[in-house]
Amino acid sequence: MSTNAGAPQKRPTLKAVRGTRDLLPDQTPLWNFVEATARGVFARYGFGEIRTPILEDTSLFARAVGEETDIVGKEMFTWEDGERYSHQRLEAAWKAANADSIYILEFESGLIGYVPDLKVHRFGKNRVEIVEFKNLATPEAIAKLASFVDAARLKDLQTDDKAPTIGRLVVPAGKSRLPKGIRLPDQVELEEVAGDFFDSSQSLCLRPENTAGVVRAYIEHKLGETGQLQKLYYIGPQFRRERPQKGRYRQFWQIGAEVIGPQSSGSESALRDAEVLQMLAALLDELGIRGWKLDLNSVGSSEDRARYNDALRAALAPVKDQLCPDNQRRAETNPLRVLDSKDENDQAIIEGLPKIADYLAEDSRVHFEQVRAALDACGVKYNLNPRLVRGLDYYTRTTFEFTVTTGLGTQNALLGGGRYDGLSEMLGGPRAPGIGFAIGEDRLILTLQAQAEEDAKAEGAAQPAWAAKKLDAYIAPLGVAQNPAALALAHDLRSVGLSVEVGDGSFKLRKSFDVADSLARNIILLGEDEVATQTATVKSFATGEQKKIAREELIGVLR
Ligand code: HAM
Repeated sequence: MSTNAGAPQKRPTLKAVRGTRDLLPDQTPLWNFVEATARGVFARYGFGEIRTPILEDTSLFARAVGEETDIVGKEMFTWEDGERYSHQRLEAAWKAANADSIYILEFESGLIGYVPDLKVHRFGKNRVEIVEFKNLATPEAIAKLASFVDAARLKDLQTDDKAPTIGRLVVPAGKSRLPKGIRLPDQVELEEVAGDFFDSSQSLCLRPENTAGVVRAYIEHKLGETGQLQKLYYIGPQFRRERPQKGRYRQFWQIGAEVIGPQSSGSESALRDAEVLQMLAALLDELGIRGWKLDLNSVGSSEDRARYNDALRAALAPVKDQLCPDNQRRAETNPLRVLDSKDENDQAIIEGLPKIADYLAEDSRVHFEQVRAALDACGVKYNLNPRLVRGLDYYTRTTFEFTVTTGLGTQNALLGGGRYDGLSEMLGGPRAPGIGFAIGEDRLILTLQAQAEEDAKAEGAAQPAWAAKKLDAYIAPLGVAQNPAALALAHDLRSVGLSVEVGDGSFKLRKSFDVADSLARNIILLGEDEVATQTATVKSFATGEQKKIAREELIGVLR
């Protein structure tokens, strides 16, 4: 027997899931600085915030982003969300047997039934749907019916003078047991309906990107019917099961924006493309990102792309065997994707492939020229990159990516985006051309941190704009008896907008000074004397000056 028998077992510690990260208070000021700057720029360009759910139906991304893309094919966090009871199916079965209008009576215990000619009355909390007689209710009849549902809720039911007709309460087969202690009212018969009343499970996923969700919301809330151009931005986490490395995470944040609307709102105009790019240039400059590079391309309309895909397929067919296995597969399923392959050995073949520019129809070509002319007019520099096709299938016409050289290593794409003129239709919505982008916020932050490290090496470097600010004051009660007065003073100072931390009267004076120096610009000493005379002893760490002042002067001194 081990000598340790009976000793408590040390439990293994738990860690953040692979590819996810905690952002601690020493990191979040930079995140908040980036987000506040982005919100400010977006507001100046007329964008409003949209927040869509993190959970979406998997088919949203299968349809929008494309089954053949890496994102949908390999990287989504997806699960079957269990089968769901379907009222519609039961209703259909009952309607097939009875022509009457029917309503559902549902108990938490699983009993589900119908009472003809009744109106549904819902109570959210205990998931009971009480039924109300359409126009034939008497208080007695309702009382009887309601008594087995929830007598306490009787008062909520509406009544009518006419005589009651309570029909059969129909329950699906297998679900017909009444909850214990519940008796049916005399007028109600229980009748079973046979059949399968469950919808198969729904496939849900964590969103891998936000454009599809925004367009779904645009359709769902009929935003197009306003006739207005919708300028929407979002900031939030996205999820992709990628191999984690610097700048690549499984939960990462995007700051993105979409401009979408009916054609009549000008959503298709090249001016919008240029405005979005101009805004991005302004944002990166305002954040202080140095040396960014904008790559620009047009992937044409879906017809142009189809023709180009055929040309690529034809060009790839004779050399397919020389490609890496991934590109061999893409050469057949989605040849456009071969173009952004990073495989070293395939580069020579890829360079020799036909160029999209030669397959653009006149209107796509003109649109792209207009985008370029507008960018030239507002002084936004770009580099034409015919291989920039992007990893999502919804793109049409303009596509772009911004890269940086500092801080990101191989994951140097800071942000990407483009036009998606057919996406709304792909999701069953109205025609709604659009363009947008998403910035990898994690990557933006890495870049700013790397730049700040570079800057810190330079002599006399200023603190970056997001550097955590010290508190205005640290209050040190000189004995436990002064704790209440210290807390009361802290409250007074905080209520006029000063940032304050309070120590504890049990601390030695040395410790109070050390903690105060690390946290705050000033220390306020509160001893017996200060409390009695309504004064405070304040020392500024910047000047080393210490003085005893009246309480009324304190706010002015700290500000
Ligand atoms: P995306 O190129 O897939 O486009 O992602 C945009 C940006 O998100 C990338 O440029 C990168 O900075 C960042 N990103 C992507 N994956 C990761 C990751 N695993 N870890 C860290 N950062 C990552 C889209 O998502 C489109 N919805 C953009 C868009 C909006 N197009 C039109 N509207």
